Amino acid sequence: MRKAYIDAIGMYVPSNVVTNKDLEGRMDTSDEWIRERSGIEERHHVDGECTTDLALKAAEEALEKAGMTPEDVDHIIFSTMANDYFVPGGGPMMTRRLGIPGTPALDIRMACSGFLYGLSVAKAFIESGAYDNVLLITSEVQSVALDFSTAGRDTAVLFGDGAAATILKATDEDRGLLSVKTHSDGRYAEDLMLRTPSTLDNPFLTNELLDKGYGRVVMNGRSVFKHAITKFPAVINEALDAAGVNKRDVKLVVPHQANLRITEAVANRLDLELHKVVYSNIQKYGNTTSASIPIALYEALQEGRIEPGDKIVVASFGAGFTWGASVMTW
Ligand code: ACO
Repeated sequence: MRKAYIDAIGMYVPSNVVTNKDLEGRMDTSDEWIRERSGIEERHHVDGECTTDLALKAAEEALEKAGMTPEDVDHIIFSTMANDYFVPGGGPMMTRRLGIPGTPALDIRMACSGFLYGLSVAKAFIESGAYDNVLLITSEVQSVALDFSTAGRDTAVLFGDGAAATILKATDEDRGLLSVKTHSDGRYAEDLMLRTPSTLDNPFLTNELLDKGYGRVVMNGRSVFKHAITKFPAVINEALDAAGVNKRDVKLVVPHQANLRITEAVANRLDLELHKVVYSNIQKYGNTTSASIPIALYEALQEGRIEPGDKIVVASFGAGFTWGASVMTW
């Protein structure tokens, strides 16, 4: 049966590294607090670059690794929390940046679950025979929407900027995506959101709204934590069942890098060994939202932690709330 598989991944993070110590100079926080609560040591922030600048660098690397030119891309799927423009989205912008006008492009706004939702669309596109080569871009510039005063410290210290580009291709071989399961629950929308610009307001963007802080990411950290540690294991088990794969046969679980404490709790609940079976690189990048899973996959591959034939699980949880998991044979 025709399946979709990940052929190549490219990644890019801005060169500007912001350490916890750097943040100490901007708000009332400490390196110790951030490490203890999140595991994060440093993250990258843009210095004038926009979302599609990061995306282009990642896409160029992925295309080169796949031995493709931009013209070989049949369809773009673009995931981000923050686009260059509110409208149009990053998908059409990437056809301009890659020099492939006319290429179909789809924008998805599923925050931290953008990669999982992207996989589910790419899988359907490829399995149905509609497209052979799909470019899934996940690019995030969050530092411009964070409050770096003490009032925003619970959120601002967690996020980082970064991008990844994943090329999915068709295969008849015994490899590729076995299952993708996704979910959402809008009852918790306000527990992690960026409100403005919003049609709740007319006009939807005013100085007054910005003064209220509505142009910043806000989060109810305890609610996110509580839901993440139950939803991650549940959806991973669901995706394993759908794929007919036993948990003990999984070589590596690559979760969305939300917070090391969430990853630890998920590993515990699944009875999987952290570091050996559950991958983490949040220490270097913070939470890069939809880019975090493919960036982690990229580094796991580079470290030789994934080999052809391995069973790999990826999983996410984030704003919406949204969550998902996928099982694949590498
Ligand atoms: N530096 C220093 N102190 C801080 C900071 C900071 N950056 N942020 C908050 N504090 C203070 C609080 O103000 C509070 O002070 P108080 O006791 O005087 O009121 C104290 O630290 C403890 O705050 P809590 O909210 O109790 O801290 P908690 O242990 O819950 O940790 C955290 C907060 C890290 C946000 C936690 O709730 C968490 O991990 N939540 C998950 C959120 C998350 O990981 N989101 C990632 C993005 S969403 C996603 O990708 C799924």
